[in-house]
Amino acid sequence: MKSSRHIVLLPGDGIGPEVTNAARLVLESVAVRYALELTFEECEFGGAAIDSVGFPLPPETLSACKNADGILMGAIGGPRWDHLKGEERPEGGLLALRSGLGVFANLRPVSVPASLAHLSVLPPKKVEGTDILVVRELIGGIYFGKPRVLEAEYAVDTMTYSVAEIERITRVACTWARRRKGHITSVDKANVLAVSRLWRETATRIARDEFPDIQMDHLYVDNAAMQLVLNPRQFDVILTGNLFGDILSDLSSTLAGSLGLLPSACLGGITPLFEPVHGSAPELAGKDSANPVGAILSAGMMLEEWGESEAAKSVRLAVENTLKAGYWTADLVSGGRGSISTSAFVSELITHITTVETVSS
Ligand code: NAD
Ligand code: IPM
Ligand code: MN
Repeated sequence: MKSSRHIVLLPGDGIGPEVTNAARLVLESVAVRYALELTFEECEFGGAAIDSVGFPLPPETLSACKNADGILMGAIGGPRWDHLKGEERPEGGLLALRSGLGVFANLRPVSVPASLAHLSVLPPKKVEGTDILVVRELIGGIYFGKPRVLEAEYAVDTMTYSVAEIERITRVACTWARRRKGHITSVDKANVLAVSRLWRETATRIARDEFPDIQMDHLYVDNAAMQLVLNPRQFDVILTGNLFGDILSDLSSTLAGSLGLLPSACLGGITPLFEPVHGSAPELAGKDSANPVGAILSAGMMLEEWGESEAAKSVRLAVENTLKAGYWTADLVSGGRGSISTSAFVSELITHITTVETVSS
């Protein structure tokens, strides 16, 4: 196991700096408990970088990211930069970062243990035991297809996937399914889109020829959205493209209770990138009220990716135990009454890191 690891932090905009700081505090506590040597470097990114250097992904930031062992991003974007277009936007910087790193596989887990099912937007009985991994293709599809045109009278975006792009993300989904319940639901719009027909054909062939032990089903994305709400426990791994994965992962957050709870890992490239699923929530910025769990669990996914399984487990258990003990940020409490601040949540969670038993549990 590597003795020292270097983390690039990209706090970004809105609540990004608050949740990134929360994740850093948790990592520092985990480092003490598990004798890990972690070093941190903060880089400019997103709207903050636009304000200081004029563009969202400065070359120094990209090169620091390429040289790190892991990258932890907060969130980017906000009304201040909404007048900018395309690549000049904070969002353009995020797409350039993902693509520059080559992180094509975005893993977005959503799990609802029975003990936390009451936090869900849906009735607890409907969601408890839900355990879904959304495997979203991250550097292709309509987010990157050319041509992309915006004129006064018309606009064009292009959805495109090559066989090779579909093959590699399908292999990632199948590999994860093997470690789980062995079931993949591939989500597309093959009744309408040519790209989706190629997607379905290719995913089916890879599963059949290379992963015969995996059961693969297919759903159209409109039905998949409904099924996620009607019967979320039917899903194990959801395999889908960039746009559908973006939408379905936000939708899935309602199963757990809040978008602020969901983490993600972006893998398969030069350096793994970890980012909460949520955005910069500008209306909450600077209020010490954002839910830091998505960012903290993203840091946990980074530890897992490094093979630090005990440390990763301590993060997951500390989150679960803190929530179970009734420490909730405002997004988890209707009307916000009785909620606690981001910083109070983190302080409480850190007490769980130092006491949690990861070996025997
Ligand atoms: P958002 O995810 O910022 O917010 C959606 C809703 O969820 C809001 O009601 C917000 O208050 C709530 N929310 C989100 N995260 C939360 C948290 N941690 N704790 C409590 N509540 C939370 O999405 P949006 O409002 O559509 O977008 C705002 C900005 O963020 C836009 O500029 C968008 O482009 C950007 N964005 C960035 C990312 C990213 O950086 N990865 C992701 C999505 C959106
Ligand atoms: C996400 C976000 C991004 C995406 C935006 C900000 C580019 O919504 O990470 O889910 O669409 O991928
Ligand atoms: Mn999104």
